[in-house]
Amino acid sequence: MIEKSILCNFTTYEQSIANNNWDTALYEDKHTFVWQYGEDLLKLLNPKSGESILDLGCGTGQLTDKIAQAGAEAWGIDSAPAMIEKARENYPHIRFDVADATNFQVEQPFDAVFSNAVLHWVKEADSAIASIRQSLKPGGRFVAEFGGKGNVQAIVTALYSALESIGIPQTQVENPWYYPSIGEYTTLLEQQGFDAIYAILFPRPTPLAEGEAGIANWIKMFAGSFFAGLSPEQQIKIIPVIEEYLKPTLYQQGTWTADYRRIRIVAVKL
Ligand code: BEZ
Repeated sequence: MIEKSILCNFTTYEQSIANNNWDTALYEDKHTFVWQYGEDLLKLLNPKSGESILDLGCGTGQLTDKIAQAGAEAWGIDSAPAMIEKARENYPHIRFDVADATNFQVEQPFDAVFSNAVLHWVKEADSAIASIRQSLKPGGRFVAEFGGKGNVQAIVTALYSALESIGIPQTQVENPWYYPSIGEYTTLLEQQGFDAIYAILFPRPTPLAEGEAGIANWIKMFAGSFFAGLSPEQQIKIIPVIEEYLKPTLYQQGTWTADYRRIRIVAVKL
């Protein structure tokens, strides 16, 4: 059992729900690809028995559990209380805590920090990198994958076009995502005392579950902030408009495929 504690600015449960309104049942049921693809990243992490590894943005804990199964002492953190609650229920033998990627601190540093499909939600990349650095031993590794430059570009374009078609300009819409190039992200890492030893940006078209409803479910799960200014009726009406825009490029033979582009990075703390 790891005996380290996380010192962080905890938000209240109500604030966190307001900011991280995750439907964990929908997430676990329809978005299994999030951690299934993450298994590739685990190979890059190569967790070893006896290592201590922090899973940053652990969601409902599936990859944290894989890290623990490899014999490492795993600890998962996530900013969404609902995710942490579910992770604890799923894997009661593993420690999980609510913490924010931009301001967590640990008392004793880890051998590695691992993060899958999370950092594209963290626009304050400098603050996240500072927290990651602080939580690593010298020589410790940071292994991450997230959405990179051009990620879900067709979906974003369709969201903006559909909103514009009902009179809402792009300037009034909150895009919650940060999709840096590898040059941009590795520079941020190097500026804070990391050696970026591996970095790649690659397309990873991702088939969505649920057949015809696939893109609507994805949008409801992940893109809610685009619709913050819309009435419930407008929200219901806009989804088919977005589907129409996307159908020619992302829908084939009953399956929607999201146009993901991933960044994968390994960096070592100097
Ligand atoms: C991604 O994994 O690239 C992603 C997931 C949800 C929303 C946006 C991007």
